Amino acid sequence: MKPAVIIICGVVLLAVGVAITLGLDSTVDQGREVYAMQKCALCHSVSGIGGKKMALDGVGSRLKLEEIRKWIQSPRSMKADTTMKAYPNLPRKDLSDLVAYLATLK
Ligand code: HEC
Repeated sequence: MKPAVIIICGVVLLAVGVAITLGLDSTVDQGREVYAMQKCALCHSVSGIGGKKMALDGVGSRLKLEEIRKWIQSPRSMKADTTMKAYPNLPRKDLSDLVAYLATLK
């Protein structure tokens, strides 16, 4: 094999490696963005920043993934008289990213 081919292969492998690494982190980062875009912080705080209704710190330890998802999609199915706004129409990817982000709040 020519040296140039070996170098090109090396660069391609490196690029794929970087892409995979970034990809793994991006779910949680995207979820943080959805949290900001949907203005969850109007009511919720994380690390003391945001609304005073309820802190979401530790929600990743308190609730299962499925419970977090339900709270977002249909809060009333978790607590009949809750004042939390429902988000039934979030795109599937946004919802799963958001749940992944909240699950990191231990
Ligand atoms: C209008 C205010 C409001 C908004 C906006 C809001 N929430 Fe809530 N949320 C609440 C309240 C209040 C509770 C506590 C449940 C209760 O007692 O009614 C709650 C509960 C939760 C819980 C359960 C927490 C636990 O530990 O039991 C999760 C998870 C949650 N909210 C996530 C979100 C996310 C994610 C968003 C944005 C997409 C959001 N909330 C937007 C008011 C809000």
